[in-house]
Amino acid sequence: MDKQAVISIKNLWAGYEADMVLEDINFDMFQDDFVGLIGPNGGGKTTLIRVILGLIKPEKGQITVMGQEPARGRKHIGYVSQFQVEDKHFPISVWDVAAMGRLRPNFLHNFRLSSQDNDAIEMALKETGMIDFRKRRIYELSGGQRQRVYISRALATEPKILLLDEPTSSVDSQSSNQLYELLSELNNHIAILLISHDLTAISASVKTIGCVNRRLVYEGNKEITDEMVEVGYGCPVDLIAHGVPHRVLPSHQHEVWHD
Ligand SMILES: Nc1ncnc2c1ncn2[C@@H]1O[C@H](COP(=O)(O)OP(=O)(O)OP(=O)(O)O)[C@@H](O)[C@H]1O
Ligand SMILES: [Mg+2]
Repeated sequence: MDKQAVISIKNLWAGYEADMVLEDINFDMFQDDFVGLIGPNGGGKTTLIRVILGLIKPEKGQITVMGQEPARGRKHIGYVSQFQVEDKHFPISVWDVAAMGRLRPNFLHNFRLSSQDNDAIEMALKETGMIDFRKRRIYELSGGQRQRVYISRALATEPKILLLDEPTSSVDSQSSNQLYELLSELNNHIAILLISHDLTAISASVKTIGCVNRRLVYEGNKEITDEMVEVGYGCPVDLIAHGVPHRVLPSHQHEVWHD
């Protein structure tokens, strides 16, 4: 499986009823990749994640996850969603949140953690540096710590691919740098797809960058191209700062908004 894509998308169109949010998406992601996808609010980033997770069926085109249709392949995906529900005053411990990564479809009838489950949870909390917090309530943690717990929950599934939707949107820049460091380490054995609408949040740790705004511009390298910026934002913007060493932003000569 050396060169087999872990996620492969070809000529894919998807959306909601009349609204085709994603148009003609082509994307291949491999096991050692760490891809950052940027794009404006409403551009279709979360929708793309839903398609990859098999929650939305494409209108046209093909998608595979670990060589299988998404509904089957998604068991190899650890997912950290854009919004979390347990944040406020829900008396659940750090351990229990991570343990949710081990739930199986019939858990309501008969769910007991096996020693294998416990080992996976412990390993996940160790990887994120949250094991010492395992008895704490989730709402007692800072935003950055909480985010690590949600990553632990995703890791407890022992995924081949980690999908993160805006993981740094509610954490300060120091915590977000630490999160990126953690993700870089995890990328030694897990393919990572990171979504953000914030260009500045994409740090040095991503290996390649793409942009989604209905269309996906992704060439498998780390340059933020003129095309990406125009597709994503309508005009070149000057806010790509730290962590993107080889950006190529041509000077702003074309008056995109006057056309
Ligand atoms: N469940 C839904 N039903 C109908 N339309 C939806 C649904 N979810 C999203 N949309 C629409 O699809 C478009 C893309 O939304 P999506 O959530 O994928 O954007 P996004 O890039 O993740 O944005 P953000 O940066 O704000 O998270 C938007 O116009 C949105 O209103
Ligand atoms: Mg979103």
